[in-house]
Amino acid sequence: MQPDYFSPSVLLSTKPMSKLLAEILFIPDFEDSRIPISLHRLLEKEFLQDFDQELRWASMSGRFKGELFQSLILSIDKPKGTVRRVVFLGAGKKKSMSVDRWRRLMSTAVMISRKARHAKVAFLCDGAGERVVQALVEGAYLGNFDSGSYKTNKKDSSWVESIELVVKRKSKSGIKPLIAGKARGCVFGEYTNIARSLVNEPSNILTPRTLANRAEKYGLGAGLEVDVLDEDQIRDLGMGLVLGVAQGSSEPPRVIVMKHNPPGIRGGPVLGFVGKGVTFDTGGISIKPANNMDKMKGDMAGAAAVIGAMCILSKLKAPVRAIGIIPVAENMPGANALNPGDVLKSASGKTVEVLNTDAEGRLLLGDGIWYAQKLGATHLVDIATLTGACVVALGNTTSGLFGTPSWWVDQIELASARAGDRSWQLPVFEDYSEALKSEIADFANIGGREAGAITAALFVKEFVNELPWGHLDIAGTSWAEEQQPYQLKGATGTAVRTLAELALDVRSWKKLK
Ligand code: BES
Ligand code: MN
Ligand code: ZN
Repeated sequence: MQPDYFSPSVLLSTKPMSKLLAEILFIPDFEDSRIPISLHRLLEKEFLQDFDQELRWASMSGRFKGELFQSLILSIDKPKGTVRRVVFLGAGKKKSMSVDRWRRLMSTAVMISRKARHAKVAFLCDGAGERVVQALVEGAYLGNFDSGSYKTNKKDSSWVESIELVVKRKSKSGIKPLIAGKARGCVFGEYTNIARSLVNEPSNILTPRTLANRAEKYGLGAGLEVDVLDEDQIRDLGMGLVLGVAQGSSEPPRVIVMKHNPPGIRGGPVLGFVGKGVTFDTGGISIKPANNMDKMKGDMAGAAAVIGAMCILSKLKAPVRAIGIIPVAENMPGANALNPGDVLKSASGKTVEVLNTDAEGRLLLGDGIWYAQKLGATHLVDIATLTGACVVALGNTTSGLFGTPSWWVDQIELASARAGDRSWQLPVFEDYSEALKSEIADFANIGGREAGAITAALFVKEFVNELPWGHLDIAGTSWAEEQQPYQLKGATGTAVRTLAELALDVRSWKKLK
């Protein structure tokens, strides 16, 4: 079995081109403000002239205009140092430049380098500050990911082994913030890739028990406290919703509990992250159609996001306490499975009529949120591949964001923007709760056809006791259906960095100042 990713070493460099260690150098170039490359101290004079001509020719002939993710690869005949190739990388319009675009450009650069089998890469980012450096490093990790771990004839993935970020020799704020950005980027990148590889794992390998083992391995490795509740402990806590989802499978459920308790921090908020961990979602007795059912091995992407984010908090010593709760089960049909119409009692005491066994994620979240509150969480975020309706509403680029009160939801939105995980708010007006009425229990687990992502969010809200609560529906964003210059098909690792950014930003949460 091959690993899915390689963590490159990252260097901040202020050296001229002939002194770099890299074989290939990337120079971002804007569509509407072309680099006056002849001004560049980095490039030695003799090939400046060649490049000038090549570039001019390429842009006049229309071969390279600096459009986003376009690339022009030039070879150096007589290299002075190790750099043998220079790639002008289209960065699009300068006025629409963003931190996330830097992240994607670097990821593209790494993917191009791997294709050309260059292990040592340099990237020119002259004006980059802390945030941009962090994003660039994240991008480097994201581009160094592959998903063919079970191919027996796989050639080595040609990883990028080192990245030199070529920064200004003297920036106003000095090198310190850049070093901080680099350190953060490495940790963010590493755990996003770990989450991606968990999501890629097939369900015959990643059962609830193996997911719990992996969480334990990564969590303990990062310095977290990790507890795994087995079926008996889950029963003792009264988590009837978790047991109900799991009862059709021969694989027993687990509830993973990860705790980040930074020394010296008492009082203050306690974050509660709750991630849906369905290792495979057949739909249960309300079974799904065969088409695309294989994708349901990724129905634990919320769990993966919580595992990744919790590890980041510990590694970076985030100055806030946090608890990750991950209820894990496999949703199967079978002789012991739930039938539509069955009634379950949740740990909170509320009863649920399961009208559709395929609406299982919200059941896990209900008991998970109850447990997070029992353990002392004061601010909640749940993350789940919850509804097809959310994919219909927002597509594959943007997660649905729900919750209350609005300052808290805004805070999550800010964090997701910083992370490069797009999200967009949808309402949770009480009026929508009508749809969840049940004749025989407190409420049903599905609403009607309309506003399916919202009624799912409102179901989850039934378990929240007046705390700030946010809910991210990542059904569309956790899996890329199409290859992009900056991203392979497959698991994206969405929400890992959102949760980590949210926690690291604790000092600027409005209400807590
Ligand atoms: N895991 C699915 C949601 C999903 C759909 C995730 C597409 C990723 C891609 C979830 O458990 C589910 O089956 N939801 C149902 C809910 C319905 C029965 C109310 C859905 O969206 O169809
Ligand atoms: Mn389902
Ligand atoms: Zn599901």
